[in-house]
Amino acid sequence: MEQNTIHSPILLAASSLSAAEWAALQTLLIALKLRDEATYQHSLRVADLARRISARFGLSGTEQQDVLLAGLLHDIGKLAVPDQVLNKQSKLTRSERQEIARHPTLSSEILLPFGKFDKVRAIILQHHERYDGTGYPSGRRGDEILIESSILAVVDAFDAVCHERPYRLPLTSEEALGWIESESGRQFRPAAVHALVEEFETADALESRVPEPAKVLDRWDSLLPFKVSS
Ligand SMILES: [Fe+2]
Repeated sequence: MEQNTIHSPILLAASSLSAAEWAALQTLLIALKLRDEATYQHSLRVADLARRISARFGLSGTEQQDVLLAGLLHDIGKLAVPDQVLNKQSKLTRSERQEIARHPTLSSEILLPFGKFDKVRAIILQHHERYDGTGYPSGRRGDEILIESSILAVVDAFDAVCHERPYRLPLTSEEALGWIESESGRQFRPAAVHALVEEFETADALESRVPEPAKVLDRWDSLLPFKVSS
Protein backbone atom coordinates (compact mmCIF):
# COMPACT_ATOMS: atom_id res chain seq x y z
CA MET A 1 0.00 0.00 0.00
CA GLU A 2 2.74 2.37 1.04
CA GLN A 3 4.59 1.26 -2.08
CA ASN A 4 1.73 2.52 -4.22
CA THR A 5 1.67 5.84 -2.42
CA ILE A 6 5.40 6.39 -2.74
CA HIS A 7 5.52 5.43 -6.38
CA SER A 8 2.27 7.06 -7.44
CA PRO A 9 3.86 9.65 -9.79
CA ILE A 10 5.74 7.11 -11.87
CA LEU A 11 2.89 4.63 -11.77
CA LEU A 12 0.65 7.39 -13.04
CA ALA A 13 3.01 7.91 -15.99
CA ALA A 14 3.49 4.22 -16.66
CA SER A 15 -0.23 3.54 -16.56
CA SER A 16 -0.79 5.64 -19.67
CA LEU A 17 1.87 3.80 -21.69
CA SER A 18 2.10 0.41 -23.36
CA ALA A 19 4.79 -1.98 -22.11
CA ALA A 20 6.94 -1.17 -25.15
CA GLU A 21 6.57 2.59 -24.67
CA TRP A 22 7.37 2.26 -20.97
CA ALA A 23 10.49 0.24 -21.78
CA ALA A 24 11.59 2.82 -24.36
CA LEU A 25 11.05 5.64 -21.90
CA GLN A 26 13.14 3.89 -19.26
CA THR A 27 15.88 3.30 -21.81
CA LEU A 28 15.98 7.00 -22.60
CA LEU A 29 16.24 7.84 -18.90
CA ILE A 30 19.05 5.34 -18.38
CA ALA A 31 20.91 6.84 -21.36
CA LEU A 32 20.49 10.30 -19.82
CA LYS A 33 21.68 9.04 -16.44
CA LEU A 34 24.81 7.54 -17.98
CA ARG A 35 25.53 10.66 -20.03
CA ASP A 36 24.75 13.38 -17.49
CA GLU A 37 23.81 12.41 -13.94
CA ALA A 38 23.00 16.01 -12.92
CA THR A 39 20.49 16.51 -15.73
CA TYR A 40 18.97 13.11 -15.00
CA GLN A 41 18.47 14.00 -11.32
CA HIS A 42 17.14 17.43 -12.30
CA SER A 43 14.61 15.81 -14.65
CA LEU A 44 13.28 13.50 -11.94
CA ARG A 45 12.85 16.36 -9.46
CA VAL A 46 11.23 18.61 -12.07
CA ALA A 47 8.80 15.88 -13.14
CA ASP A 48 7.79 15.28 -9.53
CA LEU A 49 7.25 18.94 -8.60
CA ALA A 50 5.69 19.96 -11.94
CA ARG A 51 3.10 17.21 -11.60
CA ARG A 52 2.23 18.43 -8.10
CA ILE A 53 1.91 22.01 -9.35
CA SER A 54 -0.29 20.91 -12.25
CA ALA A 55 -2.57 19.09 -9.80
CA ARG A 56 -2.76 22.28 -7.71
CA PHE A 57 -3.61 24.10 -10.92
CA GLY A 58 -6.61 21.82 -11.40
CA LEU A 59 -5.37 20.12 -14.56
CA SER A 60 -7.00 16.80 -15.41
CA GLY A 61 -5.36 13.43 -14.72
CA THR A 62 -4.36 13.10 -18.37
CA GLU A 63 -2.89 16.59 -18.39
CA GLN A 64 -0.96 15.82 -15.21
CA GLN A 65 0.45 12.70 -16.88
CA ASP A 66 1.59 14.78 -19.83
CA VAL A 67 3.30 17.26 -17.49
CA LEU A 68 4.96 14.38 -15.65
CA LEU A 69 6.27 12.84 -18.86
CA ALA A 70 7.35 16.24 -20.19
CA GLY A 71 9.22 16.86 -16.93
CA LEU A 72 11.03 13.54 -17.23
CA LEU A 73 12.02 14.11 -20.85
CA HIS A 74 12.29 17.90 -21.26
CA ASP A 75 16.09 17.85 -21.34
CA ILE A 76 16.57 14.55 -23.18
CA GLY A 77 17.84 16.59 -26.16
CA LYS A 78 20.95 17.37 -24.08
CA LEU A 79 22.11 13.89 -25.10
CA ALA A 80 23.05 15.59 -28.37
CA VAL A 81 24.87 18.55 -26.81
CA PRO A 82 28.68 18.12 -26.93
CA ASP A 83 30.49 17.23 -23.68
CA GLN A 84 32.66 20.34 -23.75
CA VAL A 85 29.49 22.47 -23.67
CA LEU A 86 27.43 20.28 -21.36
CA ASN A 87 30.18 19.90 -18.77
CA LYS A 88 31.88 23.27 -19.13
CA GLN A 89 33.23 24.48 -15.79
CA SER A 90 32.92 28.19 -16.58
CA LYS A 91 30.28 30.48 -17.98
CA LEU A 92 29.04 29.61 -21.46
CA THR A 93 29.89 31.73 -24.49
CA ARG A 94 27.19 33.02 -26.83
CA SER A 95 27.67 30.20 -29.35
CA GLU A 96 27.69 27.61 -26.57
CA ARG A 97 24.42 29.02 -25.26
CA GLN A 98 23.01 28.72 -28.78
CA GLU A 99 24.12 25.10 -28.80
CA ILE A 100 22.28 24.48 -25.52
CA ALA A 101 19.25 26.38 -26.84
CA ARG A 102 18.69 23.65 -29.42
CA HIS A 103 17.70 21.18 -26.72
CA PRO A 104 13.92 21.84 -26.56
CA THR A 105 13.69 21.16 -30.30
CA LEU A 106 16.02 18.15 -30.04
CA SER A 107 14.08 16.74 -27.07
CA SER A 108 10.87 17.05 -29.02
CA GLU A 109 12.36 15.41 -32.11
CA ILE A 110 13.85 12.48 -30.17
CA LEU A 111 10.32 11.66 -29.00
CA LEU A 112 8.80 11.70 -32.49
CA PRO A 113 8.56 7.86 -32.67
CA PHE A 114 6.24 7.91 -29.64
CA GLY A 115 3.08 8.25 -31.70
CA LYS A 116 0.86 9.49 -28.91
CA PHE A 117 3.32 11.95 -27.39
CA ASP A 118 2.24 14.92 -29.52
CA LYS A 119 1.10 16.90 -26.49
CA VAL A 120 4.15 15.94 -24.43
CA ARG A 121 6.38 17.02 -27.33
CA ALA A 122 4.55 20.36 -27.60
CA ILE A 123 4.94 20.97 -23.84
CA ILE A 124 8.65 20.20 -24.08
CA LEU A 125 9.16 22.33 -27.19
CA GLN A 126 7.78 25.38 -25.37
CA HIS A 127 9.46 24.97 -21.98
CA HIS A 128 11.98 27.77 -22.65
CA GLU A 129 9.45 30.22 -24.07
CA ARG A 130 9.05 33.27 -21.83
CA TYR A 131 5.81 34.98 -20.88
CA ASP A 132 7.11 38.29 -22.29
CA GLY A 133 7.87 36.68 -25.66
CA THR A 134 11.67 36.78 -25.42
CA GLY A 135 12.17 33.04 -25.01
CA TYR A 136 13.02 30.33 -27.52
CA PRO A 137 12.64 28.61 -29.93
CA SER A 138 9.56 30.48 -31.22
CA GLY A 139 9.17 33.64 -29.14
CA ARG A 140 5.63 32.74 -28.13
CA ARG A 141 4.20 35.05 -25.49
CA GLY A 142 1.51 35.05 -22.79
CA ASP A 143 -1.38 32.71 -23.47
CA GLU A 144 0.22 31.51 -26.72
CA ILE A 145 2.35 29.32 -24.46
CA LEU A 146 0.77 26.07 -23.26
CA ILE A 147 -0.11 26.30 -19.57
CA GLU A 148 1.68 22.96 -19.06
CA SER A 149 4.84 24.51 -20.52
CA SER A 150 4.49 27.56 -18.25
CA ILE A 151 4.29 25.23 -15.25
CA LEU A 152 7.29 23.25 -16.47
CA ALA A 153 9.24 26.48 -17.09
CA VAL A 154 8.76 27.81 -13.59
CA VAL A 155 9.61 24.48 -11.92
CA ASP A 156 12.58 23.95 -14.24
CA ALA A 157 14.04 27.36 -13.37
CA PHE A 158 13.31 26.95 -9.67
CA ASP A 159 15.10 23.61 -9.51
CA ALA A 160 18.02 24.85 -11.61
CA VAL A 161 18.82 27.84 -9.38
CA CYS A 162 18.43 25.73 -6.21
CA HIS A 163 21.26 23.47 -7.34
CA GLU A 164 24.90 24.24 -7.73
CA ARG A 165 26.46 24.68 -11.15
CA PRO A 166 30.19 24.74 -11.76
CA TYR A 167 30.03 28.53 -12.22
CA ARG A 168 27.58 29.53 -9.46
CA LEU A 169 26.38 28.62 -5.99
CA PRO A 170 22.85 27.41 -5.34
CA LEU A 171 20.13 29.73 -4.03
CA THR A 172 18.10 28.74 -0.99
CA SER A 173 14.48 27.88 -1.81
CA GLU A 174 13.38 31.20 -0.27
CA GLU A 175 15.84 33.13 -2.44
CA ALA A 176 14.77 31.14 -5.49
CA LEU A 177 11.08 31.80 -4.87
CA GLY A 178 11.86 35.52 -4.42
CA TRP A 179 13.65 35.58 -7.78
CA ILE A 180 10.85 33.62 -9.47
CA GLU A 181 8.29 36.13 -8.11
CA SER A 182 10.39 39.04 -9.36
CA GLU A 183 10.16 37.51 -12.85
CA SER A 184 6.39 37.04 -12.71
CA GLY A 185 4.89 38.56 -15.86
CA ARG A 186 8.33 38.72 -17.47
CA GLN A 187 10.00 35.34 -17.74
CA PHE A 188 7.18 33.46 -16.03
CA ARG A 189 3.39 33.27 -16.30
CA PRO A 190 1.92 34.87 -13.14
CA ALA A 191 -0.56 32.04 -12.56
CA ALA A 192 2.24 29.45 -12.66
CA VAL A 193 4.34 31.52 -10.24
CA HIS A 194 1.36 31.79 -7.93
CA ALA A 195 0.83 28.02 -7.95
CA LEU A 196 4.50 27.35 -7.19
CA VAL A 197 4.53 29.83 -4.30
CA GLU A 198 1.28 28.37 -2.98
CA GLU A 199 2.77 24.87 -3.09
CA PHE A 200 5.61 25.99 -0.85
CA GLU A 201 3.34 27.94 1.49
CA THR A 202 1.16 24.99 2.43
CA ALA A 203 2.10 23.39 5.71
CA ASP A 204 2.49 19.90 4.28
CA ALA A 205 4.96 21.20 1.71
CA LEU A 206 7.32 22.31 4.45
CA GLU A 207 9.35 19.16 4.09
CA SER A 208 9.79 19.79 0.39
CA ARG A 209 10.89 23.43 0.75
CA VAL A 210 14.34 22.35 -0.26
CA PRO A 211 14.18 19.83 -3.11
CA GLU A 212 15.13 16.41 -1.82
CA PRO A 213 17.06 14.70 -4.57
CA ALA A 214 17.88 11.60 -2.60
CA LYS A 215 14.27 10.98 -1.66
CA VAL A 216 12.95 11.59 -5.14
CA LEU A 217 15.72 9.55 -6.71
CA ASP A 218 15.16 6.60 -4.42
CA ARG A 219 11.57 6.24 -5.41
CA TRP A 220 12.18 6.71 -9.13
CA ASP A 221 15.43 4.81 -9.46
CA SER A 222 13.90 1.73 -7.93
CA LEU A 223 11.57 1.56 -10.89
CA LEU A 224 14.31 1.32 -13.46
CA PRO A 225 14.93 -2.29 -14.54
CA PHE A 226 18.43 -2.34 -13.11
CA LYS A 227 20.76 -0.16 -11.13
CA VAL A 228 23.01 1.96 -13.28
CA SER A 229 26.45 2.57 -11.90
CA SER A 230 28.01 5.89 -12.77
FE1 LIG B 1 15.52 22.89 -20.64
